[in-house]
Amino acid sequence: MKLLIIGNGAREHSLAYKLSQDTRVEEIFVAPGNGGTANEFKCKNIDIKANDIKALLEFAKSNSIDLTVTGGEEALSLGIVDLFVEEGLTIFGPTKAAAEIEASKSFAKDIMSVASIPTASYEQFEDYDNSVKYIETNNTYPIVIKADGLAAGKGVVIAYNIDEAKTFLNSIFNDKIFGVAGNKVIIEEFMKGEEATYTAITDGDSIYPLDISQDHKPIFDNDTGPNTGGMGAYTPVPLVDNATFSFVTRNVVVPMLRELHGRGIPYRGVIYAGLMIDHSVAKDKDDSKRGGCGSNCGCASNTINTNEIRVVEFNARFGDPECQVIVSRLDTGVLDVLLGSAGGEFGDIEVKRNENEVVTVVIASKGYPSEYETGHEITGIEKAEEVEGVKVYHAGTKIDENGKLVTAGGRVLSVTAMAITLEEAKVKAYKAIKEINFKDMYYRTDISDKAFKNI
Ligand code: AMP
Ligand code: GLY
Repeated sequence: MKLLIIGNGAREHSLAYKLSQDTRVEEIFVAPGNGGTANEFKCKNIDIKANDIKALLEFAKSNSIDLTVTGGEEALSLGIVDLFVEEGLTIFGPTKAAAEIEASKSFAKDIMSVASIPTASYEQFEDYDNSVKYIETNNTYPIVIKADGLAAGKGVVIAYNIDEAKTFLNSIFNDKIFGVAGNKVIIEEFMKGEEATYTAITDGDSIYPLDISQDHKPIFDNDTGPNTGGMGAYTPVPLVDNATFSFVTRNVVVPMLRELHGRGIPYRGVIYAGLMIDHSVAKDKDDSKRGGCGSNCGCASNTINTNEIRVVEFNARFGDPECQVIVSRLDTGVLDVLLGSAGGEFGDIEVKRNENEVVTVVIASKGYPSEYETGHEITGIEKAEEVEGVKVYHAGTKIDENGKLVTAGGRVLSVTAMAITLEEAKVKAYKAIKEINFKDMYYRTDISDKAFKNI
């Protein structure tokens, strides 16, 4: 089979790597790919941007691609799935209408509200004056302000006072910093707690469960500094047991899919639910009223009764860096899950999973998520991969005109380590990182520590 993977991050490299191990796969094209996918087994980069969906269609048609896999949200929200399906091609991911669960926060909030999915209370606004009037009346801080549309991870601000709130609202409505993505704004209640990512795949009817993982969004240790795309992740998450996964499937994902279906929008592809889990919800509260497992739920969890789980956001694709840790636990059958989802029926898929625990640490260019330099030579990746259980996925890298591997983006590498325990996986990841070098490299030193703290 010939595959096409769209994107240039470590997420796409990890998918390419995993799919390359399937004996049925002969060739994988990655558009546009990176310095890692350029040299990966069976892989070849092609020079088409991830948002050039017409050129991608032409490529898929003329190269008889059997399955296309979209990594990021942009192509989905441009309707790449609709376009490919119209032309009779097989593509993994939701249609444009279904991908609105990520591309429009007001759409996602409306679905959650109608389907009684636990989330922060919110109001939505389409102009500056009314939004400011609301925050003046509400006067509760912190408060969360979100641009409605896709804003490359920059569309959310947690405002701690009225000035911060007004400044952000002004930049959205009056300065139009997000263009049409800021035509609407959601203002919502601040939720406290620990974040975790739920990931599953659906064929439109049934759900193939993957894992809960935990991202580390802020740039500095101890979750300080500005938010990034994600500086590291791990799975499993001790905070969230298997029964909690089932709880989320039942109380968040199924109602969401049913509501979409009822609106004539079938959903296929990855379902990513960003969760906020508040363990401080008192144990002695009546759980049946808190969205926890009440006696009618039927789930066997002992721990969930003390949690409060609410949805922060839905995404229509794998997370990055969450994907890197999730796919590491799948040994075989990934191709079947993707094909089954794309075809609308999983059928008798057989997936072999491993019980490893996985940590990935992102190495970034100093200055990211603001300004940073590129073009610095990267060395030591082969040595890093000599550490048992380690695989280095590339993100912002490229092969320059002299054939050298150089930095080409903010997030550069995702050093991923598998071991029997998270503790060992963390040690291996950081041991591998010590072998890697480029000018001004930066990484957090505490990835996965949240797993070990007393909760
Ligand atoms: P989003 O794009 O909606 O996922 O928001 C980006 C990040 O902002 C999330 O990962 C959270 O860290 C934070 N965030 C968003 N909404 C809330 C909320 N209601 N309460 C607390 N933090 C939030
Ligand atoms: N790591 C967060 C995301 O992919 O949305």
